[in-house]
Amino acid sequence: MIELKNISLELTGRKILHDLSLKIDDGTISVILGPSGVGKSTILKIILGLLKVDSGKVFIDGKDYTNTGEDRELKLQRKIGMVFQGNALFDSLTVSQNTAYFLCESDKISREDIDSKVKATLAFVNLDGTEDMYPEQLSGGMKKRLAIARALIVEPSIILFDEPTTGLDPINSRVILNLIRNLKTMGTTSVIVTHIINDAIAVGDVLTVLNEGTVVTSGSVKDILRHDNPFIKEFLYEIYKDTSFISRNQDQMQQ
Ligand SMILES: Nc1ncnc2c1ncn2[C@@H]1O[C@H](COP(=O)(O)OP(=O)(O)O)[C@@H](O)[C@H]1O
Ligand SMILES: [Mg+2]
Repeated sequence: MIELKNISLELTGRKILHDLSLKIDDGTISVILGPSGVGKSTILKIILGLLKVDSGKVFIDGKDYTNTGEDRELKLQRKIGMVFQGNALFDSLTVSQNTAYFLCESDKISREDIDSKVKATLAFVNLDGTEDMYPEQLSGGMKKRLAIARALIVEPSIILFDEPTTGLDPINSRVILNLIRNLKTMGTTSVIVTHIINDAIAVGDVLTVLNEGTVVTSGSVKDILRHDNPFIKEFLYEIYKDTSFISRNQDQMQQ
């Protein structure tokens, strides 16, 4: 479980997060939803230990990891995978080499084992046959799947996704969301940050809505839709206009 407790953070003299508390249960798909600039990517960086907070606590599996970054043990670093918004692929490495990247020398893993892990991981994200290609030869959806494969190869129990469907067409978005659902059936915890409400509703077990650097509310899709907060009503306006949208969208996702 990941728990952020009363987190506040200023960057260059500006309040970015303010008294933000959030819990992510194991085995769930949690979606952090909010408009651009609200602090979503910042939250992921705090969980990863890339950013330090001014106050508040970060607990992972009950242990206090507040403001530990490079000091985190390899086991914890491996526990949490990250899929960056821009994918952060290595352009000069092939698909196979990108996928294998985090299987470092310290793993003392044989060439054969690396190859078979790469093959299995690429098959999972449906990128078989692209092993020798370079990122620039891949479509946007394929690049995203490669970024997911690279995060998956060390078998993290938690994966953080920063805007995983932003910039993808609806079909590729659905492929990515279905991959995240498949990960859940294998017991992986996913944290997705997004401003795309439809995607949040389609996969989220728990939705946390942010505004002005803090949590407005957190709950199931139904809980959120029932909420009376004016910000939520405005943010979800399109959905409020057509509540049958939710059941339709969830049905589509099951296919
Ligand atoms: N390193 C930084 N220094 C100063 N301000 C930053 C920095 N990183 C992000 N911000 C600001 O923090 C706010 C939240 O950023 P971010 O977490 O990227 O938002 P989101 O991912 O929700 O779009 C934005 O206003 C952004 O300009
Ligand atoms: Mg962001």
